[in-house]
Amino acid sequence: MRTVEVTDEIQAYLDRLVPKRDPVLARMEEEAAREGIPIVETHEGAFLSLLVRIAGAKRILELGTATGYSGIWLLRGTDGGLLTSFEVDGKRAARARANFAEAGFGKQAIVLEQDAVQGLEKLDGRFDACFIDLLTSFPSEDVTRRVLELCIEHLDGGALLMADNALRQGEVVKPKTQQARNVAFYNKQVAEHPRLESVVVPIRDGLSVARVRD
Ligand SMILES: C[S@@+](CC[C@H](N)C(=O)[O-])C[C@H]1O[C@@H](n2cnc3c(N)ncnc32)[C@H](O)[C@@H]1O
Repeated sequence: MRTVEVTDEIQAYLDRLVPKRDPVLARMEEEAAREGIPIVETHEGAFLSLLVRIAGAKRILELGTATGYSGIWLLRGTDGGLLTSFEVDGKRAARARANFAEAGFGKQAIVLEQDAVQGLEKLDGRFDACFIDLLTSFPSEDVTRRVLELCIEHLDGGALLMADNALRQGEVVKPKTQQARNVAFYNKQVAEHPRLESVVVPIRDGLSVARVRD
């Protein structure tokens, strides 16, 4: 059976099943909608949180903080975990820091205001989970490959590797843009990688979920 088409009625049903958001996340959702900030939405946020909790992850790496929405969901899946997140946009990085503080994670979130690709090359640290939320911003498949390898290098056996926009609004099937080519390339690399076991979950715009083999 194919994945069910999510009609407005089904979406409304799903919306009634997710936990009610606290004021911080609710405000961030409103701001993102108003300002066109591309954040993961509630269902994917809750899913990220659950995955992190199931994996027992504590040290989390994120590429693409924006204003910290997904970062808060990721941290809520940990017991006192630490998030290291890259954001190249200075204004967004500052807003993320303020939002983390307001959500009670001021001491658990490090926002590195720099290019994630350059930063990853120099990053010293091991992680239990990584969330990539800027696949579509890379200039080429070569950079996409390099980022994937760098992420895996920083993950221990049993760690989670997740990436957003794995379906690129369906464009991934016949990629015509560099963004879609990056995503299609990433999905193929992950599916064929000897150190990964993976699946693409068709939630929102698609979430690639992989586990690093022990
Ligand atoms: C899709 S948004 C992240 C959304 C966030 N993960 C959430 O769901 O709340 C991607 C972010 O990555 C940032 N970005 C794009 N290219 C980047 C790069 N090379 N290094 C660091 N950040 C980058 C953008 O400024 C943008 O804020």
